[in-house]
Amino acid sequence: MTTLLQINASINDDSGQSSQLARQFVAAFAARNPEAKIVVRNVAAGEPVPHLNAERFGAFVTKPEERSAAQHAVVAYSDTLIDELKQADVIVLGLPMYNFGVPSQLKAYFDHIARAGVTFKYTDQGPVGQLTGKKVYIFAARGGLYAGTPLDTQTNYVRDFLRFIGITDVEFIYAEGLAISPQSKEAGLAKALAEIARLAA
Ligand SMILES: Cc1cc2nc3c(=O)[nH]c(=O)nc-3n(C[C@H](O)[C@H](O)[C@H](O)COP(=O)(O)O)c2cc1C
Repeated sequence: MTTLLQINASINDDSGQSSQLARQFVAAFAARNPEAKIVVRNVAAGEPVPHLNAERFGAFVTKPEERSAAQHAVVAYSDTLIDELKQADVIVLGLPMYNFGVPSQLKAYFDHIARAGVTFKYTDQGPVGQLTGKKVYIFAARGGLYAGTPLDTQTNYVRDFLRFIGITDVEFIYAEGLAISPQSKEAGLAKALAEIARLAA
């Protein structure tokens, strides 16, 4: 059975433009794959992923038999996020741009899924990602226009991070110019929807 994991990173929860585009893609995917299991994880709304701090990182690097109850809970939460990724064949990420970067909660999510010995391993040849064989679609929503320019701080960063944990098959779909004018918003969303239709064909 195919499993699709939809990760929403909008502070506006399901109503964010990135979440809506992701959902439309997922609806088209589900129509083509009625047997697919769909799992949704909101990292920024509801119960946002907490920022990594010394206590949380300390839990990751403490040996299991030496962890306190609080440290076990921290690791169990990280394990849950990682298990969702492991189970997924297809990952759909709604990616808003906030203040020239990814949502801070998405960074916090990345900080909870980058675990040495779990999602990547250090080898003589450098780090090797462990989450292989997955396909990722990213729906990037932006007020301005950045794709293909040096101001796009998101595309390389997210691509590099995913590669680090072993995920290399990554496709970006952009909805840009959403805050420039009503016409620009309409055009940006129409372009992204056309991409969804193409991917669903
Ligand atoms: C706090 C905040 C900061 C933003 N910063 C940027 C920015 O730096 N560049 C940009 O192009 N758009 C920016 N925007 C516009 C968002 O990218 C746009 O509203 C997009 O739809 C956000 O995705 P979402 O609707 O899924 O939350 C910002 C929006 C908010 C709310």
